[in-house]
Amino acid sequence: MSEKGPVLPRRDSGDGTRATNKLIMSYDYSPTFQLHPYIFHLFTPNQGEFMSLAKLRTHYTVDVKPEKVDNGQKITLAGWVHEVRDLGGICFVVLRDREGKAQVTLVKKKIDKELFDAARRLIRESVISVTGSVKFEEKAPNGYELLPEKITVLNVANSPLPMDTTGKVEAELDTRLDSRFIDLRRAETTAVFKIRHQALQAIREYFVENGFIETATPKVVATATEGGTALFPITYFDREAFLNQSPQLFKQILMSGGFDRVFEIGPIFRAEEHDTRRHLNEATSIDVEVSFADHFDVMEILENLVAYVYTQVVEKCQPSLETLGIELKVPKTPFLKLTYDEVIEIINARSEEKMHWGDDLGTSGEHIVGNYVYETTGESHYFIIDWPTEIKPFYAMPYEDRPEFSKSFDMMHRTMELSSGAQRIHIPDLLKSRIESQGLNPEGFEFYLKAFEYGMPPHAGWGMGCERFIMTMLGTENIRDTVLFPRDRRRLSP
Ligand code: AMO
Repeated sequence: MSEKGPVLPRRDSGDGTRATNKLIMSYDYSPTFQLHPYIFHLFTPNQGEFMSLAKLRTHYTVDVKPEKVDNGQKITLAGWVHEVRDLGGICFVVLRDREGKAQVTLVKKKIDKELFDAARRLIRESVISVTGSVKFEEKAPNGYELLPEKITVLNVANSPLPMDTTGKVEAELDTRLDSRFIDLRRAETTAVFKIRHQALQAIREYFVENGFIETATPKVVATATEGGTALFPITYFDREAFLNQSPQLFKQILMSGGFDRVFEIGPIFRAEEHDTRRHLNEATSIDVEVSFADHFDVMEILENLVAYVYTQVVEKCQPSLETLGIELKVPKTPFLKLTYDEVIEIINARSEEKMHWGDDLGTSGEHIVGNYVYETTGESHYFIIDWPTEIKPFYAMPYEDRPEFSKSFDMMHRTMELSSGAQRIHIPDLLKSRIESQGLNPEGFEFYLKAFEYGMPPHAGWGMGCERFIMTMLGTENIRDTVLFPRDRRRLSP
């Protein structure tokens, strides 16, 4: 039990006065508060009663609509003090919650003087709960205002704030990321993460509908999958281990395990020293593996998934899309397929810098081809197929009749690569020889190779970077905008 009882805000409210109004109280949270599944109680010794947290909010700001709430109905909103506009005889407090904003209107002549004075002194970004009656009013933002009878301050924010939340002052990305907790309160930032949430929800729906099993494979591993240089070493008791670059080897083992169709959404770690707007050192990968399938089968799954997610976002995220000023166009399927050889021709016809067979695409090449596809088809997504075997990972299946080409693909957006995949080698001897020819030691892959020797079905799959997918969907400038707490070369905190 707290010895202190209700704690009155003691901070300077900016006008030299102290907020000590008895109508405004913040409560001292002590560990003695009882925790129930959805409700916990605040003990307020001075009043000798329990106050239910459920009473601190009855509605979100967006749920106050004539079809759901009566004019004059008493409700309680809870959130942050977005703005206080004190016009002398009238004071507007804009309360912001996760879903939007509401205007709390206090007319000096009509309400308790103490409540009016306390509202005027509210400090921006403090946490409040406001009980009052709803007045539907066309001119008010959201079409209503709340006429308060009680304002409870649940926690007082320090002043000045580390950054502005109203959008009036633009902050640099680094400043925003340093104070992410407050940046997340901005409507634009919240919108990105609501869309990311909905996109991931749609991805899961799509997979479940199509007979996939969701898996979780280890993130602490003993071997590289995508090339040894990009690994983060860690200490695992007395051994060296690594943070996994991709669920690749495990999702393939699951095909030997008879799972047929798996998906995984999880972190991948890349120790690349890139410091670009589209690379992270910890990213989220959406991975798929399918048995009895070739690369064309899994490309179809991928393009249909992309179109489905866009459709769901358009359908379910209109308010967030509007906040971001985006009119989202659902990509048309099937996506255009260009061969690697065709891509070389396109680049060499349009650029001084020549691309040779066996070269990777490079950023300028990606832009040239992306623009070509956009100009000729009006679409942003396309595939590049039939890559040289030597520049794809060891597990990509070479074509039987032309082994210098592999049954591999990249799914591209106009501005960058979103996904790579392939039909995999399921023949153990061929796989072993491909591991060796890439300069790797098959001994390190024993646990993986074993799964191929006792009945591995033919299979194919792909991995798509979640952040790049969201970034290209929303046209964000920087991949870091699509991650809550990005990890890059310079950033390990928050
Ligand atoms: P790949 O290495 O091409 O393939 O990765 C697949 C996709 O993951 C995303 N991605 C990244 N996103 C942000 N920052 C990074 N550093 C980063 N690295 C990768 C990209 C990329 O297209 N095992 C294969 C997939 C497979 O064949 O199933 C793999 O990991 O969007």
